[in-house]
Formats: sequence, structure tokens, C-alpha cells
Amino acid sequence: MLALAADHGGYALKEEVKKWLDEQKIPYEDFGTHSTESVDYSDMALPACEAVVSGKCEKALLFCGTGIGISMAANKIKGIRAACCSDYFSAKYTRAHNDANALCMGGRVVGPGLAIELVEVFLNTPFEGGRHQRRIDKLAALENR
Ligand code: RB5
Repeated sequence: MLALAADHGGYALKEEVKKWLDEQKIPYEDFGTHSTESVDYSDMALPACEAVVSGKCEKALLFCGTGIGISMAANKIKGIRAACCSDYFSAKYTRAHNDANALCMGGRVVGPGLAIELVEVFLNTPFEGGRHQRRIDKLAALENR
């Protein structure tokens, strides 16, 4: 189960990604927003990220205009490792090396075709563990300092 959320700047891209998830029969919960009316990305990120932290959802797909604001908000939430990506390599290696559990994309940055490629590689790339686990543990320690 994926958790989806967007502000108004990411709403249209979220809807495009949902079409692909539907085609792939990948289940998700959409935490909004549900229109292009202006909302604040922090408010949208919180419930989707809480669903990931609680274990209700495995990963989050988050969208705003740049992908940056909603990634900043997500990374304030303990247990979230959010990556703002607009290229394939980053979307792949933030899973392999960072064990990212939230992919953030900018609706004003990436088109729907690229976004779907990013989502696909993000969902299908496993965490490599090993030396990267130590670094993830240190990220978690930063949350408790
Ligand atoms: C909203 O206009 C815009 O600032 C927001 O979607 C995002 O790009 C912020 O990082």
C-alpha cells in the first residue's frame, strides 16, 4: 500500500501517477489534495508520512510544485527518509543506498512519463543494506540528538 499526497502544485502529477498505479493494480491511499485550490505542502505531507511511519503504508509518493517543499516537510517527520528526484539514477539509488521511504516529485519539474519511470524504479529497487545500513542508522540517530 502506498501513501499519496500533493499540494496544488503537485495535484495534476499525482492524478497522472494514480492512473498508472491503477493500471498496475498497485494499491494506494490518496491523502489529498483533491483539487488545484491552494493548500500548504506541510499539511499534505503529514498524514501520508504518518501512514508510512505507522506501517499502514509501505512508502509515500509526494508531489508539490518543485518536489522540494514537500520533501523538506516529509524529512521533518521521524522515520521518514524522503528524496526529491527528477532523474532515474537518483530515484534508483535513493532506494538502494538511502532506503528512502518517500519519493517526492515536482509537478512543475517532471512530466508524467518521467514521473512514472521514477516511481517504477523507486518501487522496484531494494535497499542494498550492508555498509548503507550503518549510514541509515546514523540518519536515525540524528533524529534523536
Ligand atoms: C506552491 O506554489 C509551491 O511553492 C509548492 O508547490 C512547492 O513548489 C514548494 O516547494
